[in-house]
Amino acid sequence: MMHIYNNSEALYKGFTRFLAEFTENYPHLNLALSGGNTPKALFDYWAEHAKNALLWDKITFFWGDERCVAPEDEMSNYGMTSQHLFSKIPAISLRNVRRVYGENEPEAEALRYASVIDRMVLQRHQLPCFELIMLGLGDDGHTASIFPNQIEKWNDDAHCVVTQHPQTKMKRVSFTGQVINNARDVAFLVTGKGKAEIVRRIVQEPEKYTKLYPAALVKPTQGKLHWFLDEEAAALL
Ligand code: 6PG
Repeated sequence: MMHIYNNSEALYKGFTRFLAEFTENYPHLNLALSGGNTPKALFDYWAEHAKNALLWDKITFFWGDERCVAPEDEMSNYGMTSQHLFSKIPAISLRNVRRVYGENEPEAEALRYASVIDRMVLQRHQLPCFELIMLGLGDDGHTASIFPNQIEKWNDDAHCVVTQHPQTKMKRVSFTGQVINNARDVAFLVTGKGKAEIVRRIVQEPEKYTKLYPAALVKPTQGKLHWFLDEEAAALL
């Protein structure tokens, strides 16, 4: 399902409305956040304009991927979320936050976080079934922290794996494809003209790129796939 907006601000507003309505459908929402700049801007929007727009106490926050750094590190997705969202909205209780311990040894943390989501999140088809997983899209076609040069990790039997950023070599903990595709709904949030070509390839010809781009493998088995795009990112559709 395509949701296209004039600009990024309109996208954040539209996604907020979608999430508010989506949250009404469930007694509780296990939400997996993505990292990077797009969610940072969304969190700033929420802090500024949507403090009361969402039923925060109905949401438990997880991460679909995290960098293997301490929470104080500027690269930490949890640290960024804490700074731009949790610290700005007192209605969000830290009891509802389940971060990846980026400071832990990566392999041990991937196992630990997999056991957390297996324990905390309703199972469906013997897999944790998040109500909603938010994803970003790298211009190289990565999503969560599954990168093109390690695309085989998408199909790992584990529910969380350790990967490595191809350029920075920074280790990451990431959901695998079976967890992402088991969600009730999955929402890509993508902005900017720099993503227009990769969005076109993945939205219009996913089957052509399943060996190249992990994002082309996002196909919820039963849930809906949403694309929240600004006009720049959707320019080639
Ligand atoms: C991360 C993300 C990653 C991100 C994309 C897009 O931890 O970096 O989860 O998959 O979503 O790289 O990032 P931007 O939103 O910054 O373009």
